[in-house]
Amino acid sequence: MPGTRLDLDRIRAARRVIGREFLETPQFGCEPLGRRLGCGVGIKLETANPVRSFKGRGTDLVASGLASASSDGGGRAAVCASAGNLGFALAWSGRRRGLDVTVVASRSAVAAKLDRIRALGAELELVDGDFEAARDRAVEIARERGIRLVEDSLDLETCEGAATIGLELADGRSAFDAVLIALGGGAMATGVGHVLKALRPEVEVICVQPAGAPAMTRSWHERRVVTTDSMDTIADGVAGRFPIPEVLDDLLQVADDAVLVREESIVAGMRLLLRDAGLVAEPSAALGVAALLEDPDRFAGRRVVTIVCGSNVDADAYHRWVGPARLTAP
Ligand SMILES: Cc1ncc(COP(=O)(O)O)c(C=O)c1O
Repeated sequence: MPGTRLDLDRIRAARRVIGREFLETPQFGCEPLGRRLGCGVGIKLETANPVRSFKGRGTDLVASGLASASSDGGGRAAVCASAGNLGFALAWSGRRRGLDVTVVASRSAVAAKLDRIRALGAELELVDGDFEAARDRAVEIARERGIRLVEDSLDLETCEGAATIGLELADGRSAFDAVLIALGGGAMATGVGHVLKALRPEVEVICVQPAGAPAMTRSWHERRVVTTDSMDTIADGVAGRFPIPEVLDDLLQVADDAVLVREESIVAGMRLLLRDAGLVAEPSAALGVAALLEDPDRFAGRRVVTIVCGSNVDADAYHRWVGPARLTAP
C-alpha cells in the first residue's frame, strides 16, 4: 500500500457520498485514436456530468461533510480559489446542499467557467494576477469570515473524490498498461495513483503537465518543491506556480513519471479528441493525448488510458484552436 495521506477504505466510502451523476463514468477503447497513435487508447470520460469536469467528485464530498457538520452547529459556508472548474463544481455541490459558496478567481480566468459559477448563485470575487493571487485572497476571506477554506489537492476530500476514478479504472474489465493523468495541484494524480498502486501495481502512472506551467513536474523530478515566477499555457486548469509540499510527497509515492508537453501538442490533442472521439476537451483534458503524440515510441503497441477530465472552454477560443476539424468515421 503506498504511504500517502490517502486511505483505500475512505476512498471506497466516498463512493457512497458522491452524487451518482459523477460516478461510473464511461470508459471505452477509441479505435480511431489508437490507429492514429499506434497504441491502444482507452478514454475515461469525465465531462458528461453537470459541471463538465471530474471536480464534482471532490466537491460533493466537501459539501456533504460541511452539510453534516452544520447540522451539528458548524458553518454552512465555504470559499475556494479556482481557475474555474473547482469553483464551478463547488458552486454546484454547494447549491445542492444549501451551502454559501464564495469563489476567488483570476480576472483572466476562462469566461465560460466564471459565468457558470455566477449562474449557480455563488459569490465570485475576481483578483488581478494569476491563480496564486486568487489562492492568497481565498485564505484571507476564510480568515475574515471564519468559514471553511477548500484547498484543492491539499484537502483530502479533493484527492479522495478524484481517487474514485481510480477505483472505477481498477474495477474495469479491460486491462491496461499505463494511465496518463493531467497534473495541476495534484489531487487527481495522487488520488488515482494511490488507488492504482494499491490495486493495479503493474499499471504505469504517468503525469502530464504543460511545459509552460512545469512547477509540479520539476518538483517531482527534483524531489523537492520547485516554484516558477510565471506561467504561459492555454491549459488553465493545471496552471500553478507553487506546488504544495504534502501533495508532492504523495505524488513521489505513486507516480512513475511526470512529463511536459508543448502547447502545439495540447492543441493537436484537442483536435484529435474532437475528430477521432467526437469529444470536446478543454486544454487540460488533452494533455494525455499530447503526451502520446510527443513520444510515440514509448507507447507503441501498449494499452494506455487517458482521463478526459474537463470540457469547459470558451467557444471562440476552442474554435480558434481546433479549426474546421472533420470527424473521423468510428
Ligand atoms: C480539466 C482539469 N484537468 C486537470 C486538472 C488538474 O487536476 P489537479 O489539480 O487535481 O491536479 C484540473 C484542475 O482543476 C482541471 O480542471
